Amino acid sequence: MSNNTLTITDNRTGKTYEVPIEYDTIHATDLRKIKVNPDDFGLMAYDPAYMNTAACKSSITYIDGDKGILRYRGYPIEQLAEKSTYLEVSYLILYGELPTKEQLEYWENRILRHTFIHENLVQLIRAFRYDAHPMGILISAVSAMSTLYPEAKHVRDPHVREKQIWRIIGKLPTIAAFAYRHRIGRPFNYPDSSMSYTANLLYMLDYMNQRDYEVHPALARAMDVLFILHADHEQNCSTSVMRAVGSSLADPYSALSAAAAALYGPLHGGANEAVLLMLNEIGTVANVPAYIERVKKGEVRLMGFGHRVYKNYDPRASIIKKVAYEVFEVTGSNVLLDVALELERIALQDDYFISRKLYPNVDFYSGIIYHTLRFPMDMFPFLFAIPRASGWLAQWMEMLDDPEQKIARPRQIYLGADERDYVPLEERK
Ligand code: CMC
Repeated sequence: MSNNTLTITDNRTGKTYEVPIEYDTIHATDLRKIKVNPDDFGLMAYDPAYMNTAACKSSITYIDGDKGILRYRGYPIEQLAEKSTYLEVSYLILYGELPTKEQLEYWENRILRHTFIHENLVQLIRAFRYDAHPMGILISAVSAMSTLYPEAKHVRDPHVREKQIWRIIGKLPTIAAFAYRHRIGRPFNYPDSSMSYTANLLYMLDYMNQRDYEVHPALARAMDVLFILHADHEQNCSTSVMRAVGSSLADPYSALSAAAAALYGPLHGGANEAVLLMLNEIGTVANVPAYIERVKKGEVRLMGFGHRVYKNYDPRASIIKKVAYEVFEVTGSNVLLDVALELERIALQDDYFISRKLYPNVDFYSGIIYHTLRFPMDMFPFLFAIPRASGWLAQWMEMLDDPEQKIARPRQIYLGADERDYVPLEERK
């Protein structure tokens, strides 16, 4: 055997084992041969929350958390945010290469031709209470799409897959806009495929029959950059859910609906909403130091700070801060920005945050931008979900085509009761 191995001595038995190392990783199943008795199950690795477990091999997104690097298919996020568009990045993430001019035209055309939603879905959205959380609508509407397109269950068929991808990426902005218009009691604007992806979204959200209505190009571009930044982030909570549900060969709508549910939580895609709630609670710059003290006492978390992977800085946060200023040039500044800047300033020089490597993450500023664009807070996670659909679908396809993948099925360490006899109700204490 080469030097690329790990030698393990089991002190319970004195036996030594040699396991191969590939990509700085050992196969967890190689540990299974380490046993005390021949009929033992064998050694397992205990890793709650997958802190140090690679669950797949992937060629989509590269992150170096210590150096603050994020690349999609090898391209640095900074270059994509500056030079590309969300739909081009979406193609890149899904198919591995930047599209040619013809490929891009075809791709944009396919997506923008799939923006209309089935009238049943329109009725479904209307059936929600006026104050329904848009993420509840998203999760339900996407899962309902599996009933409208039952052929989607043929997940091994590349043509079927492709069509569902067009549908999902095309229709999510429409569902978002209709969910929003439903809540404010305004008529729905049907999609306009002559506009760009993000301009069409802003139009569907905003248009009220004004003469000479135009979406401000700077705002559409800001949304586009935000979408690029959110398009994928390798094996995060919601992506892992997409892969796990997809591994049972469920159709992509069911898997994506589950991924969206995972994204909804305040520690993940709900963080941008939580940041805004926090900034509103703090209210003024003068209240910032007292709030920081509460964070340090462990009473509350500084939302929009910290990341499981980035322990230096989140490269998306630096780009988004720039976008925030570009948006403010069009809309005028936002009072909450002063509170956010002061929070950031104090936190970045406080030992509590420095020693724990807590820096602003992508959500620290995205919430302020969305607020400035007058999105209600509970729309924020939806605005994260729209672009993340590209990443979810790319990861789903990669999982399906990976011969090493099977249905996801973690192990457990059972610590419950030993076998015991059933006690009749009248004899229980
Ligand atoms: N405010 C205050 N303390 C924090 C924070 C925070 N935001 N995040 C972590 N800590 C502390 C934590 O209390 C712990 O301290 P100690 O060692 O004294 O117990 C230490 O830092 C390590 O925290 P952890 O919870 O073990 O770290 P994690 O890697 O499990 O958590 C996180 C990552 C993102 C869930 C967490 O930093 C957090 O809750 N942040 C706020 C929510 C947020 O902004 N989420 C958006 C993430 S970016 C978008 C996305 O990718 O979904």
